[in-house]
Amino acid sequence: MKFKTSLAGWALVAGCTIAGTAAAAPPTPEMISFACAGCHGTNGGSAGLTMPSLASQSKASIVDAMKKFKSGERPSTVMGRLAKGYNDAEFAAMGEFFSKQKFHPTTQVVDAAKAKKGADLQEANCSRCHLDDGKDGKDDTPVMASQWLEYLKMQAELYDSGKRKMPKDMADKWNKLSKEDREALLHFYASVK
Ligand code: HEC
Ligand code: HEC
Repeated sequence: MKFKTSLAGWALVAGCTIAGTAAAAPPTPEMISFACAGCHGTNGGSAGLTMPSLASQSKASIVDAMKKFKSGERPSTVMGRLAKGYNDAEFAAMGEFFSKQKFHPTTQVVDAAKAKKGADLQEANCSRCHLDDGKDGKDDTPVMASQWLEYLKMQAELYDSGKRKMPKDMADKWNKLSKEDREALLHFYASVK
């Protein structure tokens, strides 16, 4: 615990120093990413159970999410407020940066039976857009593999309540599944490395 705290303190100091010395130049994509690291982890590999990893997400997926957070179309706890501070060029820079970071595998406890069932459901219903077991996504489809189960459950609840809108072709599949099937899918995605 003590070790972690001092590491975080060090990162903060290092971040300030870098930002301070380069004040004249426009911020590079990497510099913009420092503003995200506190929650999404270094280089977009999330260590917080309610935070998604951004590493290896497609540029289109990140830009799309940022625009929806900014307009309020996608509900959020913090991202809506934060996205309002950036413009489209900065969204593009964020997308560029995180899409180039290496996929972030996580180790988490999942229900093995649910994950197994979820694997078949993914193949049959979701693999057209959530490619390669969710490690990749078609166009603006986010990476699902290894996202924290807690985060995935929160997003699933937002979809189920209608607060977050999903693409029509996803809704056609999602709405046909039982609550148990949807949960099995989330356990599967969380288990993929
Ligand atoms: C204070 C914590 C915090 C900071 C700082 C933060 N985020 Fe987030 N981010 C979240 C949370 C929490 C979510 C889930 C949505 C919500 O509830 O706001 C999220 C979701 C996202 C998503 C959606 C990912 C997906 O898989 O659907 C993107 C993209 C994103 N953030 C990008 C960024 C970028 C880029 C930055 C830096 C400019 C950033 N975030 C800074 C907390 C944060
Ligand atoms: C037609 C393409 C398509 C299909 C099919 C599809 N999805 Fe999606 N999915 C998307 C896109 C695009 C997004 C992000 C866009 C949004 O919600 O605004 C997304 C987002 C998600 C998210 C939120 C992830 C995050 O990080 O915010 C979950 C959970 C999800 N999909 C689950 C599923 C499941 C489970 C299935 C199969 C039953 C499925 N999807 C089928 C395209 C698809």
